[in-house]
Amino acid sequence: NDLYAVVGNPISHSKSPRIHSLFAANTGEALEYTAIQAPLEELDETVRDFFAKGGKGLNVTVPFKEQAWKMADQRSERAAKAGASNTLYQDDEGRLIADNTDGVGLVTDLTKNNGVNLSGKRVLILGAGGAVRGVLGPILAEQPAELVIANRTLARAEALVELFTDEAGDTALSAKGVTDVAGAFDIIINGTSASLQGDLPPVSTEVVTPDTVVYDMMYTPGVTTFNQWALDNGAVQVLDGLGMLVEQAAESFRIWRGIRPETVPVMDELRNN
Ligand code: ATR
Repeated sequence: NDLYAVVGNPISHSKSPRIHSLFAANTGEALEYTAIQAPLEELDETVRDFFAKGGKGLNVTVPFKEQAWKMADQRSERAAKAGASNTLYQDDEGRLIADNTDGVGLVTDLTKNNGVNLSGKRVLILGAGGAVRGVLGPILAEQPAELVIANRTLARAEALVELFTDEAGDTALSAKGVTDVAGAFDIIINGTSASLQGDLPPVSTEVVTPDTVVYDMMYTPGVTTFNQWALDNGAVQVLDGLGMLVEQAAESFRIWRGIRPETVPVMDELRNN
């Protein structure tokens, strides 16, 4: 069987082995997918060793996505802009190729699975770290009318606006300090890591209206801290990052195997067990 894995630190809670095993079973592809914990200083060695032993593809997760991007010999266009890679493989000449499927995963989950279109909408994204940078390209490709990047540290949001102005097209792209955001939004995406500490980004409640759809890129069992806040403030619909997790995995699987697996049954399976 061809061998795949996810590499991270820590890695024991990763859902990727389960997701890819379900994809393999559902598509009839003969592959094995495991989890590898790389020591914090040894991503490069771990990756090279995996491919040297015949491994076919790696997913990369926290905290290694930037480093995986750096060590690659070549990057897809979307990975180049994302500054991070969650998907690695080798080409026929043995060069290490980095791709990034996180942004496509988010947008596919919003648009295809949930019927939430970004086109022409007022969109607010909270956070300006690696997770947000990784999804901005695919979000802008949907051509929202407006995209506000709001962050606790304004300078990081401004840096992202500068980096992505050439992809903004007709979208009004701007940076704000998170406490300075005003007005209502059609779609709010939380890309901060605040929920990891059970914290909320300090954004005004006026951003949420009864028509607002909220997407927390984070996934935890039950309702995430941010989504609970949004529901308490009247949001019509809240979505969490499980769909994004499964969709980014499906896109990696497609890159490696040339087949796109069904995702909704896998989401249902993970949600229910
Ligand atoms: P990641 O790769 O998950 O994006 P990161 O680069 O450390 O990780 O970025 C974390 C993001 O969450 C940042 O936007 C951070 O805001 P700062 O840039 O001001 O640090 C945001 N964040 C983390 N904890 C937060 C909190 N308690 N309140 C508001 N924002 C928070």
